[in-house]
Order: sequence, then C-alpha cells, then structure tokens
Amino acid sequence: MERVIVNDVSPRDGLQNEPAAVPSAARIGLVNALVEAGVPAVEVASFVSPRAVPKMAGADEVAAGLDLNRADFRALVPNRKGYERARAAGMRSVAVVLAATETMNVQNINMSLDQAVQVCAEVLQQARHDGLAARAYVAVAFECPFEGAVADGEVERLAAAMFAAGAEEVVVADTIGGGNPRRAKELFGRLAAAFGPMRLAAHLHDTRALALANAWQAVECGIRKFDASAGGLGGCPFAPGAAGNLATEDLVSLLQQAGFHTGIDLAALLGVVRHIETLVGRPVGGRSLPWLQRQHGTHNGCGE
Ligand code: COA
Ligand code: ZN
Repeated sequence: MERVIVNDVSPRDGLQNEPAAVPSAARIGLVNALVEAGVPAVEVASFVSPRAVPKMAGADEVAAGLDLNRADFRALVPNRKGYERARAAGMRSVAVVLAATETMNVQNINMSLDQAVQVCAEVLQQARHDGLAARAYVAVAFECPFEGAVADGEVERLAAAMFAAGAEEVVVADTIGGGNPRRAKELFGRLAAAFGPMRLAAHLHDTRALALANAWQAVECGIRKFDASAGGLGGCPFAPGAAGNLATEDLVSLLQQAGFHTGIDLAALLGVVRHIETLVGRPVGGRSLPWLQRQHGTHNGCGE
C-alpha cells in the first residue's frame, strides 16, 4: 500500500487561533495523544513573538516536555531568533514561513516580501548547516486576504528560492482556503513538474468546504505529504477570514478509503478529537465526524 505522511498541525496552527489559552502541559498531552494515535509527524509549536501570538508562548516549555525521539516533531520559526530558540529547545525540524504577497508578509511577520525571502533563506541555510531538517511554507499560495488572487508563477518563483536556500520541502499553504480543485490541479501540477512531487507538501484550509477536494488533486499530482489538523482546528490570526484546517480525520478517512496507508488509527484519532473539545471548550471535528464515530464507536483515546 502506498504511504502518505500526515503532519498534524493542531498544536500549532490549531491552538494559535483559539480564544482559550491552553497550558503547556495540556499542549504536551495533545502532542503525545496524536503520536499514540499513530500520527508520524506533529508541528508542536511556533517559536514566534509571544506579543504577536500569545497562544504560542511557552513553545520552549512544550519542547522541553516532549520526548523528541518519539516522532518527527516540527516547529514553525518566523526569523533568526525563533530559529535559535527552537534549536536551543532541541527541535530537529523547523519550518520558515514565507507568504506569497507583500502585504501578507508585512501583516504576518512584519517584513516586506524581499526581506522575508532573505530572512527565510538565511534561516534555512543555518538549519542545514546545523543539521536540522528544514521546510518552507509558502503561505497564501492561492489567494491573499489583502491582495486577492496569487499567480502560480509567483508561488513557483518563491518555492524555487526556498529550495535554492536549502529547503528539503516546500509546503504549499492555502492559508485562507481560497483554492478550488481546478486551481489546485493547476498549481500542484505545475509545482510537481518543476520540483518533483516528493519535495512538496500541501497545507489546506477548509473555509469553503473544498480542502478535501483540493487535497485529492494534490494526491493526483503525486503529492504524498499533507498537513492537517485534528478536529479541523486552525487559522492564521493575521489572515482575516481564515477558517479551520483540513481535519486530520477527514483526510485520513479519504486516504484510507482510497487505499493509502497513513499509520494513523482512526478510532484513536477520534479520541484525540474529543479530547481537543475539552481543551478548547467547544465542539470541533471534521465533516465526516458523525459517520466516523458510528464506524468506530465512541472510543476515547485520552486515558479515560
Ligand atoms: N520569539 C520571541 N520573541 C521574538 C521573536 C521570536 N521569534 N522575534 C522577535 N522577538 C522579540 C524581540 O526580541 C523584540 O523583543 P523586545 O521588544 O523585548 O526587545 C520584539 O519581539 C520585537 O522584535 P522585532 O524583531 O522587531 O520583531 P517584530 O515586532 O518585527 O515582529 C515577528 C516580527 C516575526 C517576531 C512577529 O511578527 C511574529 O512573531 N510573527 C509570527 C506570526 C505568526 O506566528 N503567524 C501565524 C503562523 S503563520
Ligand atoms: Zn494554516
């Protein structure tokens, strides 16, 4: 069976955007519960300014509370300082975050597009020099909340710059869920032809209920690495209108039905989704959740 790698970003993309502040111990518990459910990669935190994203304060504490040998744990870093913090915390995989438009970079990381390219490239080079795995997000790859539609050629240009700087993987991020299957086929097809599908990952938001359809286009283009978020949590505080990520349970369900192997135990993952509800204090879950719950019973995978 062909394998697809799922990177769960709920502890980062998910919790960064929740009104409730989740304490470090509970964030550590969430990461461990995801690993216990068979999730091979988890983005555990971002080492960003706590003034910019208060919910990601304590990333160092989260990293310190994890057994970093247990799974492929990753961290988002916006600049050199974030990189140094992540490295000092023992993280072995970092992702820089470059947005495809001028305004989104200013809003998100207070840098112009050119500055962001340069800072991301420097961090990638340093990470490779230090022996860390290095990925680069290209955010708002389909549509920017400030500048509108983004040209595929611009995404390709920025991805090429990130690969040239040493990124092992470029994560094509539909930050506000502005893509549709036709556009996804064009963009993922173009990037797969330019760089090879195995060097790409897809990070999709479900604002318009198209994340799963877009994910399938990425699969058809040969992409085998996906970000997703348990319970469909997620959103960028600096991108107005961004809704949750593609729910991990929806993605895994699709992949299993289509004959791909993810290593993820859906029954255990549903337990994690229920646990997340207790952390954030509201109902969460992907669109397939009621059906999945009927298939797998109401198992609770979080020690209860
Ligand atoms: N971690 C912690 N603190 C940081 C930091 C980091 N990675 N980078 C900068 N800071 C601190 C500086 O030390 C400085 O602190 P001081 O005022 O106490 O001296 C302060 O933040 C301002 O530093 P500066 O370099 O001028 O940053 P900025 O104000 O231009 O903000 C970012 C730039 C990148 C730090 C900020 O915009 C950010 O953290 N963005 C993250 C956005 C995000 O996570 N989006 C969602 C995910 S895509
Ligand atoms: Zn996202």
